[in-house]
Amino acid sequence: MTERLDASAAGIARAADLLRAGRLVAFGTETVYGLGADATDDAAVARIFAAKERPRFNPLISHFPDAEAAFREGVPNGLARRLAERFWPGPLTLVLPRQPGGTVSDLAAAGLPSVAVRVPRGAVTTELLRAVGRPVAAPSANLSGKVSPSDAYHVLRGLEGRIDAVLDSGPCPVGVESTVLDLTGTSPVLLRPGGITVEALEEVCGPISHPDDYAHTLPTSPGQLASHYAPGLPVRLDAQDVTPDEALLAFGPEIPGAGLVWNLSPEGRLDEAAARLFAGLRFLDSEGARRGLSRIAAMPIPRVGLGRAIRDRLRRAASPRPI
Ligand code: TXA
Ligand code: MG
Repeated sequence: MTERLDASAAGIARAADLLRAGRLVAFGTETVYGLGADATDDAAVARIFAAKERPRFNPLISHFPDAEAAFREGVPNGLARRLAERFWPGPLTLVLPRQPGGTVSDLAAAGLPSVAVRVPRGAVTTELLRAVGRPVAAPSANLSGKVSPSDAYHVLRGLEGRIDAVLDSGPCPVGVESTVLDLTGTSPVLLRPGGITVEALEEVCGPISHPDDYAHTLPTSPGQLASHYAPGLPVRLDAQDVTPDEALLAFGPEIPGAGLVWNLSPEGRLDEAAARLFAGLRFLDSEGARRGLSRIAAMPIPRVGLGRAIRDRLRRAASPRPI
């Protein structure tokens, strides 16, 4: 049985008690719903991998109520502090050297000398993390390889009965996962485009290297498997036309002729498109399959701002599936 908790003081307290007892609780953040566990408890972290049916022990992001708590686990340099000042709370994850006295379990850090830390935005999320009082490991709250959940209903569709509770804080306003930036080397490296744009980061960091098109590159970060966020129907990228047996993931004015349409943003706004992306993939996938359509055609998304994160998720959705 999965408890449904509302975002009241009692709901938050119950969620925190469960997490402190080593149980699994999905909770909303500004990006997507996370599947939370006490990051200091190996057994609790192991339950995340089991519940998601994740085949590999990828390193997980640890979540904190504030920068001070985050920097007790990861060693900040000057740049980390400036980025935290500017973007936290918010959708930016920093990969930092682990603090010698840090409490994040080896399983959550996948045995690496680094740790990924994040301070999410949202009053309910912050209150929960403060009440837990320990780092909370949380990958997206979906079965491995499936589309990430942007509301509590999506979480339950995939994980009902497999997790102890879901804390419902409503739909996620950003809609794509956090940007992951590695600060352990001599210059910052973008490991995953996400809710904080490269352009915004570069205002603080200067130029950073970032692969940004649909070219199939090798994974640069553990857990960056090509196929991810995958709907059941195949996905065709940068579609300039559409056929009646295709479902159209539109952006801006729609190409006519599709069998089914979800428009990410009729006005062509990237923030709105990011927030509607995962719900759109789910809708086209289930409704498209019901109507016997054969494919999802995705219209081009500009390679700027949040468009990079959207393109990254679409590229993964279109990648060949593991058998
Ligand atoms: O928006 C988000 O970040 C969501 C919400 C729930 O907060 N969380 C999320 O967590 O996406 P997760 O654990 O699925 O993200 C893991 C990403 C992977 O790309 C992983 O490779 C990278 O973070 N990562 C974690 N620790 C790392 C490390 N020590 N070195 C390099 N990459 C790391
Ligand atoms: Mg995920």
